[in-house]
Amino acid sequence: MTITQKKAYISDVLEWSREVERIFSIREENVRLSNWDQWIAQLEVARENNSISEEEVQQIRDRAEYYHQSLESRIENNSVKPGEHKLPLLPYDYNSLEPHISEKIMRLHHDKHHQSYVDGLNRAERALYLADNQPINYKYWLDEQAFNGSGHYLHTIFWFNMSPNGGGAPTPKYSISKQIENDFGSFANFKQQFTEAANSVQGSGWATLVWSPRTRRLAIQTLEKHQNHALADTIPLLVLDVWEHAYYLQYDNERSKYVQAWWNVVNWDDVDNRFNQSWKLKWKPF
Ligand SMILES: [Fe+2]
Repeated sequence: MTITQKKAYISDVLEWSREVERIFSIREENVRLSNWDQWIAQLEVARENNSISEEEVQQIRDRAEYYHQSLESRIENNSVKPGEHKLPLLPYDYNSLEPHISEKIMRLHHDKHHQSYVDGLNRAERALYLADNQPINYKYWLDEQAFNGSGHYLHTIFWFNMSPNGGGAPTPKYSISKQIENDFGSFANFKQQFTEAANSVQGSGWATLVWSPRTRRLAIQTLEKHQNHALADTIPLLVLDVWEHAYYLQYDNERSKYVQAWWNVVNWDDVDNRFNQSWKLKWKPF
């Protein structure tokens, strides 16, 4: 194997491992895989090692195979049945985004607000898909599905989009860094436009950075509530909750201060991972 092939292989294993981690929230859900944190760290170091030996690559291959066999059946059967959504556990402690986002906000936001969207989506899905031909009020339940479903999915992205080790601009090792420069001219331009979008939301909503598999460009879009004003056929990569419940307890009505502070916790590793997954999806351009 050439060094380029070795590094490409290790990058693929790392990407797969992060996807596994996301699916099972391994660190939080008692899926007892030995030394998982150490495994991720090992891959990150190996990816940057320009003189990695065949033996080390083989060790990584053996361990990846072990994890793969342990998890394969669960990954393949990982669909969510109607009405069985669950609140994902936070990938960090409630207080670890402080001082930018307080523990009190995180507890309330995650445990109460997000939970209510999960419950609402489950109710809607049971009514819509498990009604056994009983007459139902379609308009009502479809509204409920859109509101609570979008709320659940956006908050799930939001938690993983943030990290205690986040912030700053994405470094050049991330593909998303180059794509932002292509589509917005510079990171500074992108940050300014996204910030303005977030501050422009009237009432409750979100600012989002989305990838369009059809135009193969990034775009900024705001959402009203969770579901209105959306740009269809795109994939959210980075989302910012600007509902008052996301900041009022700490920033009062000064949303712009919250938005400014939020940039310090953006997890570019996660945004880049979402981008790389989304990039693989290719629609015919029009
Ligand atoms: Fe929220």
